[in-house]
Amino acid sequence: MKPLIAGNWKMNGLAAASAEIDALIRLLGGSAPDDRDVLICPPATLVAAFAARYSDEAIQIGGQDCHPEANGAHTGDISAEMLADAGAGFVIVGHSERRADHGETDAVVKAKAQAAFRAGLTPIVCVGETKDQREAGKALEIVGAQLEGSLPETGEPFVVAYEPVWAIGTGLTPTIDDIAEMHDFIRSKTPQGTRLLYGGSVKPGNAKEILAVTNVNGALVGGASLKAADFHPIVTAAP
Ligand code: G3P
Repeated sequence: MKPLIAGNWKMNGLAAASAEIDALIRLLGGSAPDDRDVLICPPATLVAAFAARYSDEAIQIGGQDCHPEANGAHTGDISAEMLADAGAGFVIVGHSERRADHGETDAVVKAKAQAAFRAGLTPIVCVGETKDQREAGKALEIVGAQLEGSLPETGEPFVVAYEPVWAIGTGLTPTIDDIAEMHDFIRSKTPQGTRLLYGGSVKPGNAKEILAVTNVNGALVGGASLKAADFHPIVTAAP
């Protein structure tokens, strides 16, 4: 399966941050290689400009969230149709920061994933357990319930990102065996061909080992996607 290496910039990046993508493209020798998909999800303010600027270099651009509805009285929200119109190809839905900061339930995440399909985008549906849940031995049960409640119903391809909440931005990662166990589990619950990403403190130093795990088909990278010097070795680490 073609790996997908995705950068989630979260609430980081002004227009001048295009310099980091320019640098990434230089390090990649002029454009993203054919044997992997490289995706940047910048803040919504930069989606249109980046999509226009980087389509020739095969860097794909995505959104970080979308509203379930196509339009309407929702001040400050952005629809999947708007992201598609701006040139996005993907959208992250159900990131744990949105689930925590905005009270997003599995049902809301599922509606957002369905909205992505409606607009012609590929949703990246995020799931993951908290530290307490893992320590209580409930990681598979929690992620199983999130998958059950959040995954879209249509037959179109989607992506799942497993991001243990306690590994995000902490420098901590699960053991390789734990990543393998969880990805095998998610594989058993998702349609054939679904790309499964690991996210949570992916760095140049651990990317190769994580990306070599069976059923890990790429990475969703936060902090280390902001600088070309960090993101490039992760992009090239995918087998
Ligand atoms: O969506 C990616 C993210 O949550 C992981 O963040 O900074 O731990 O790579 P980070």
